[in-house]
Amino acid sequence: MARLSEKLFKELVDLVYRESGIVLDNKRELLDARLATLARKKGYKGPEEIVSLLKADQSGDHLVELLDQVSTNLTFFFREPAHFNFISKTLLPELTARKRGQRQNRVRIWSAACSSGEEPYSLAMTILEYLGNDRSWDLKILATDISTRMLRKGIDGVYTKQQVVKVPTVMVQNYFERTGDRQNTVYQIKDEVKKLVTFRRLNLLDSDYPFSGKFDLIVCRNVMIYFDLPTKQALLSRFHRYLSDGGHLFTGHAESLTSYEHLFKRVQVAVYKK
Ligand SMILES: C[S@@+](CC[C@H](N)C(=O)[O-])C[C@H]1O[C@@H](n2cnc3c(N)ncnc32)[C@H](O)[C@@H]1O
Repeated sequence: MARLSEKLFKELVDLVYRESGIVLDNKRELLDARLATLARKKGYKGPEEIVSLLKADQSGDHLVELLDQVSTNLTFFFREPAHFNFISKTLLPELTARKRGQRQNRVRIWSAACSSGEEPYSLAMTILEYLGNDRSWDLKILATDISTRMLRKGIDGVYTKQQVVKVPTVMVQNYFERTGDRQNTVYQIKDEVKKLVTFRRLNLLDSDYPFSGKFDLIVCRNVMIYFDLPTKQALLSRFHRYLSDGGHLFTGHAESLTSYEHLFKRVQVAVYKK
């Protein structure tokens, strides 16, 4: 398949950066490969046709299609387990005690850049396990991503055996329905978990977000590494704004905030508090 000229490559890199914050400057090979995949999937003649469709795009659909293709969506259940231990051992005991003291039962969590749903569902299962039979909490998890393809997977909530290997056995039993035959077993997230999670498309680069309330926990892991410094800086101040007092922010374990100006207190690696 023909390669893009240097000029068109630069134009696409600029477009992706402007629209998503993802920096592809030194990722020529990656972009070529992803465009080739997109062209094959959609029956386009090649990368040049993708660029001309993008230029004539009134609906924004081709842009969504491109961002779907260039974003890196790797995720898995209970990724970075220290966060889930922290939730059960520290965050939930503190949060539930504080809310009880304030006679409140509302708990709001945001999984920002949720990919195909493993992260918000891991959060939901951890919380359900902690709460046991206590159904008195009004718990909601908002799961957002820029990729509509990934959001559709999250909404389906169907995973393969390979994808659930990191889920503790007791949680597989409690929170997944096994369907399919022996060769092709699939694991469907149960409604009890699903109904806690709402999936929405949201671009983290937007200068403001359409939220009326604040979150007790914002989980934004393994996406800031793709952003440059000013983008990260602005994102951190928006997160601060949308966290309630005493609320927590989780970043990826490889995404330390030490080089940025921010208003959070560091609690432990990749855990911050407002
Ligand atoms: C590597 S995945 C991380 C998923 C999950 N947070 C985890 O740690 O397992 C990064 C996700 O960020 C999303 N993403 C990239 N740029 C974004 C943006 N500007 N706004 C929202 N999501 C974005 C991608 O679509 C992808 O699903």
